[in-house]
Parts: sequence; C-alpha cells; structure tokens
Amino acid sequence: MELIKAINITKTYSGKAGANDVKVLRGVAIEFSKGSMSAIIGSSGSGKSTLLHILGGLDKPTTGQIYFKDQDISSYSSEEISLFRNQEIGFVFQFHHLLPEFTALENVMMPGLARNFELNSVKKRATELLSEFGLSDRLSHRPGMLSGGEQQRVSMARALINSPSVLLADEPTGNLDEANTMHLMDLITGLNKSTGLTVIMVTHDSNLARVCDIQISLKNGVVA
Ligand SMILES: Nc1ncnc2c1ncn2[C@@H]1O[C@H](COP(=O)(O)OP(=O)(O)O)[C@@H](O)[C@H]1O
Ligand SMILES: [Mg+2]
Repeated sequence: MELIKAINITKTYSGKAGANDVKVLRGVAIEFSKGSMSAIIGSSGSGKSTLLHILGGLDKPTTGQIYFKDQDISSYSSEEISLFRNQEIGFVFQFHHLLPEFTALENVMMPGLARNFELNSVKKRATELLSEFGLSDRLSHRPGMLSGGEQQRVSMARALINSPSVLLADEPTGNLDEANTMHLMDLITGLNKSTGLTVIMVTHDSNLARVCDIQISLKNGVVA
C-alpha cells in the first residue's frame, strides 16, 4: 500500500533583487509504500532537502500534490499541516535542533506535550525511548553536555515520541563519526524492520543509501 504519493512536484524559488528564479524541482513523481525504507541521493544543491521538506509538509510545492494516504496535504491550511506533521511525521536533521536550555528528557517530551497528551504518559514514553537508544543515564543532561552521536539519538527519540507513521531524516549522520553513524543507522533500520516505520532518508553516502530498499536519485530537478 502506498503511504505517500508525490504527483508532478515542482519547486521554484523566486529570485529576489534581480536574481534569477531557481527551478529546483521540475516534475518529481514518486511513491513510498508503507514500511519501506528509501534513500534520496543526489549531489549538493540537487534539491534533496527541498523534496524532503515538501514530502513532510514543512514546505509547499510550487505546483503538484502530495497525497498522504488519500489526503492531499498540499491543500491543507497551515493549522491543518501543523497538526498533520505533529501526528504523522518525525523529522531528524543533520544538526540536531534540540533546545539547548532543556534536558534530553524535556526535549523528547515536547512534541507529546504539544499534542496535549497527559504529562506522565509522555514522560514514561520519552524515558522508554531514550533507554531503548542507550541513553537511560542521560535523561537530565542538556544537549551541550552530550556527544554528537548522543544528540542525534535524542533527536530520534523526539522524532518518534508521537509514534509517527513516517520518519524523514535529512543527512542524519552527516555530522557523525563512523561508529556513531553505524549506531544511528542500526537504530533506524531496526525500527523499520521491527515496527514497520516508513523511512525516507536523504544522504550523499552511497554506502548508507545501499542499506535502504529503494534509492531515489535526484538530478536536474527530476528523478533520474
Ligand atoms: N529558501 C530558499 N530560497 C532560495 N533558494 C533556495 C532556498 N532553499 C534552497 N534553495 C536552493 O535550491 C537548491 C536546492 O537546495 P537543497 O534542496 O537544499 O539541496 P540539497 O539538499 O540537495 O543540497 C540550491 O541551489 C539552493 O541554493
Ligand atoms: Mg540538503
């Protein structure tokens, strides 16, 4: 069953102050089935992040539609899209984007509280996720006291707190050494296999892309 279907997606960033328009995506059509693990690859500037943001409702296409199940999310209002993201999508970025003044546990809990889930149940689930990711002794540490690999595992826990159906990851290991890259990849593939979490990951590392079931190569604004 397809979970996400992108139909003829284009994205043009309009040039400001006399600069030329940048046509980043020129008609991308792809489908992602439930439980699949896909890699989006392509050279720097090929539009990988732009496409990932559009797939997850963080950005709107210039033209085209994104269907999630049978809903056209590209037609959602900004309120509807925020709710959709909070319920269905978990994001992990190259740089963790954790809030520096909050502990690991608080950072992970935040999307659950934003959804008005009960405090104790959110705390319990956040603690479980962090423990599952080997961070049970790091709950009260702030991001600045954690290593890069630990910060990314906290980001993963935060992405998963609301049990999304899709994990979107934009070069999640781009800032990690080899050992931490392997650790994070094992977590992601393990979740995909054990829970059927649908994963779409941007990477320029062909070794990581090979771990995924499907490789989508972006070139000149289309799927090559
Ligand atoms: N907000 C923006 N405004 C203008 N141009 C942008 C914006 N975001 C990205 N771009 C341009 O779009 C192209 C694709 O960017 P991006 O999707 O980040 O590529 P990738 O992730 O593959 O490196 C680049 O040329 C980039 O400069
Ligand atoms: Mg990018």
